[in-house]
Amino acid sequence: MSNTIIVGAQWGDEGKGKIVDYLTEHADVVVRAQGGNNAGHTVIHDGQTYILHLVPSGILWPDKRCVIGNGVVLDPVALLGEIDKLAAQGIEVTPEKLAISDRAHLTLPYHPKLDANRESVRGGKKIGTTGRGIGPTYADKVERSGFRLADYQDPVALAEKLAAKVVEANLILDAAGVEPLDLEAVGNALNAALERLAPFTRDTAALLHREIKSGARLLFEGAQGTYLDIDHGTYPFVTSSNTTAGGACTGSGVSPRAIDHVTCVAKAYTTRVGAGPFITENQAFSDRMHGMGREFGATTGRKRRCGWFDAVLVAHACRLNGADGLAVTNLDGLDGIETIKICTGYRLRGELHDVPPARVEDWEAAEPVYEELPGWPDTPTAGAPEIGSLPTAARSYLDRLAELCETPIELVGVGPDRSETLVV
Ligand code: IMP
Ligand code: MG
Repeated sequence: MSNTIIVGAQWGDEGKGKIVDYLTEHADVVVRAQGGNNAGHTVIHDGQTYILHLVPSGILWPDKRCVIGNGVVLDPVALLGEIDKLAAQGIEVTPEKLAISDRAHLTLPYHPKLDANRESVRGGKKIGTTGRGIGPTYADKVERSGFRLADYQDPVALAEKLAAKVVEANLILDAAGVEPLDLEAVGNALNAALERLAPFTRDTAALLHREIKSGARLLFEGAQGTYLDIDHGTYPFVTSSNTTAGGACTGSGVSPRAIDHVTCVAKAYTTRVGAGPFITENQAFSDRMHGMGREFGATTGRKRRCGWFDAVLVAHACRLNGADGLAVTNLDGLDGIETIKICTGYRLRGELHDVPPARVEDWEAAEPVYEELPGWPDTPTAGAPEIGSLPTAARSYLDRLAELCETPIELVGVGPDRSETLVV
């Protein structure tokens, strides 16, 4: 394996963490390039369950190096909490193993408060954010008033800038009747966190260029999914970063020319957490999943909304990301179902569409066009040891997904453990 990007083809939670963990065996450096601690990657590694938010999952391997790139937004307190939790689980996070970009923007205590405030003024049009302050942090970055890890090098300038930002945030919070922030407390917490993170802080683009030159193989671990992309997703029901493959390059400083392979990860059905359009959403299907104890969010514990596989979405995601292959996860979630539906088109105002619309109103008005395939109610795929032992109907289902998405299937997940990943 050479330099590979792993990206979600739906609304996140496709099981990227597990696929990344599986592919890490053939990688030297695992890179996060966008998003923040809104992400939640559940990885079962050597029988232990880890939930990672900011730290790349390569950390679970003793001999791999990890990078948090410039495109990530980083809550320093949350990151340190995650590092401590990993240490308690026996995983040492050292500066030799983890490098953090000096250009990464910081999520500060006012960002989650502003996130919550924004949501409350949205009334009935809430995005259902994770509440981690992601939107306001990226807003400050783009508006050019953000804080980067590198700012730690000039504590005087940092304190001045922080004072101005806290005054500004407190004006908004005060008007909303929210308790304002105490500048001194914020400053002290920030300084303490930055001091502990200083040994990890590096020019990670330069580091990655050296790694590439020395022949290291990079694995880019995407967070969220294609339809949460700020440009290509179901705007405004999206996150605030470019979750598509291009974001791996801008968010790390690695050129698109250095990328050899893109794998899109899609569930064998569809899920979404938070609000926003979801054409194939199905209540009975959701209830069935939750009844099986499946599909609860890793970051917020919320029930995920569930529905049938939407081939319009995933086919378009494969084009947006330039997918060389698809990893289809959670095939075992369809075990026991008599008849399975796949959405192959959207009907909007009497016309058939094969790409998603731009406007949320059109997403909501569109009707799914389904084709039905026989399920495999009597032969579970869960725990199948190899692709050849899947029931014929499951093989046909996968073949149809590949055909509709015009992308070959590389991997199939039939259970949460890394060993339950079948190579096609
Ligand atoms: P934010 O990223 O917290 O601003 O949330 C914006 C939207 O993205 C909400 O619908 C969240 O539920 C969703 N979201 C953010 N991160 C993830 C993720 O890692 N998996 C699934 N959904 C996510
Ligand atoms: Mg997740």
